[in-house]
Amino acid sequence: MNKIVIQGGKRINGEVDISGAKNAAVAILPAAILASEGKCCIENVPNIKDVNCMLKILESLGCEIERNESTIIIDSTNIKTFYANIEEVRKMRASYYLLGSMLSRFKECSVDLPGGCAIGVRPIDQHIKGFEALGTEVEISHGSLKVKADKLQGTNIFFDVISVGATINVMMSAVLAEGTTILENVAKEPHIVDVANFLNAMGADIKGAGTDVIRIKGVEKLHGCTYSVIPDQIEAGTFMIAAAACGDEVRIKNVIPKHLESISAKLIEMGVEIIEDDDSVIVKSNNNLKAVNVKTLPYPGFPTDIQQPMSVLLTVAEGRSIVNESIWESRFRHLDELEKMGAKVKVEGRIAVFDGVNKLTGAEVEASDLRAGAAMVIAGLMAEGTTRISGLEHLDRGYPDIEKKLSALGAQIKRINVE
Ligand code: EPU
Repeated sequence: MNKIVIQGGKRINGEVDISGAKNAAVAILPAAILASEGKCCIENVPNIKDVNCMLKILESLGCEIERNESTIIIDSTNIKTFYANIEEVRKMRASYYLLGSMLSRFKECSVDLPGGCAIGVRPIDQHIKGFEALGTEVEISHGSLKVKADKLQGTNIFFDVISVGATINVMMSAVLAEGTTILENVAKEPHIVDVANFLNAMGADIKGAGTDVIRIKGVEKLHGCTYSVIPDQIEAGTFMIAAAACGDEVRIKNVIPKHLESISAKLIEMGVEIIEDDDSVIVKSNNNLKAVNVKTLPYPGFPTDIQQPMSVLLTVAEGRSIVNESIWESRFRHLDELEKMGAKVKVEGRIAVFDGVNKLTGAEVEASDLRAGAAMVIAGLMAEGTTRISGLEHLDRGYPDIEKKLSALGAQIKRINVE
C-alpha cells in the first residue's frame, strides 16, 4: 500500500501548470467512438487512473489507441463488440458515457452498471429518460444496462434534474438521430461545452452548449478530428485553495479564469487576493482567513467537487462557516478525518458547520473518495507536524502528479510504500 506523507507548515510559492480536465476527458474519449471514419487525436489528456481505465475499456471494445504523453489517438473504425463488461467499467462512473456513444453509432450497447466515488445515491434515471425519448429500449438485468433502438428520432427532452452526465450522454446519443433534438434544463459545466465542441469538430451540429437549452440537428455520420481538452477547473480550484491555505504567492497557469469565478469570489470573500490574467490566476494569501458560507450548486455556482478541499480552509477561518452540499448527500466523510486533525465541525444532513480553530495538527488519515483525497493533502500542507494519507487509489483517479506539482512549489510531500 502507498501513503502520502506530508511535513506540514511549509509555505508554498511559485508556478504550477494545470492539466487537462478529467471530467471532460472521460467523456471525450468515449465520444471518439462516434467517428466511423478517420482517427481522433485528443490532446491535453491528463495522466490519471480514470483516463487509463477508460482507454482499457475502449481497447476492450476494439478501438486502436496510440498514446504519446498527453496526446491520445483513437481509431474506432473497427469496433468489434457492443458489450462493455471488463472490470474497469465497474470501477468508474464515466463508463456510462459508452451507452450514449455506442447507442448513437451502433444503435445497441450493453454496459455493466458504473462505479465511481461513494458520495451518495447516484441514479441514472435522467440518462434513461433521454435515451427512451429518442426511441431506445432500455433494460437492466444482471447488473448490466442494455440499450437498443431500431432508429433514433430527434425530440424535445426536459430534464427533471440538472445532470452533467445525463446532459452529455443524451447529447451524444442525439448527434446522429433523425431530425432535431432539443434538450432543456441541461447542465452548463465547462466540460459540457468542451464535449459539444469536440462533437462539432467531428461533424456534429450542436448549438447552445453552456446555456440551459441545447439544440442538436442530427447528421449522417461523424469523422475523426484533432482536439485539445480544456484545463481542469477542479484541479485549478484545488491548487487555488492550497495556495490560499499556505501559499505566499502562487501562479496557477493554463487555466480559464472564467471557469474559476465562483471559487475566486469565495476566496476573495475570505480575504484572499486573486489576480486574473489571460490564462492564469495568481493567489496571494495573508493567512488571515475569514469564515464564509458555501452552497454547492450546478455551474456557474460553487462546484460540489471543490466543497471538500474548500472545507479544509473553513476549519481555520476565523468565525463560523456553514456549508450546504446541495448536489451529493454523502459528501462529508472527509470531515471525520479533519476532526482527527483538530477541526471543529458538526454535520446535520447536508449541512456542515465549522467553528474555526487556530491550527490543524498532523495525523494518520484516509482519503474516502477522490476530492476527499485532495482535501486531506491540503489539510496536511496546513497542519503542524506530519500527516500520513492512505486511500491513494481515490486521489490517483483525478490528480495527475500531485506530489510532483506540490513539491515544485516547495511543499514537503512524498509517496512511500508501506507493508
Ligand atoms: N441525478 C439524478 N438522476 C440522474 C442523474 C443525476 O437524480 O439521472 C442527480 C444526482 O443524484 C445528483 C445530481 O443529479 O444529485 C447531479 O448529478 P450529475 O449527473 O450532474 O453527476 P454525474 O454526472 O454523475 C459529474 C461528475 C462529478 C460531479 C458531478 C456534479 C463526472 C464523471 N463526474 O457526475 O464529479 O460531482 O458531475 O458536478 O463527470 C468528481 O470529479 O469528483 C466527481 C464526483
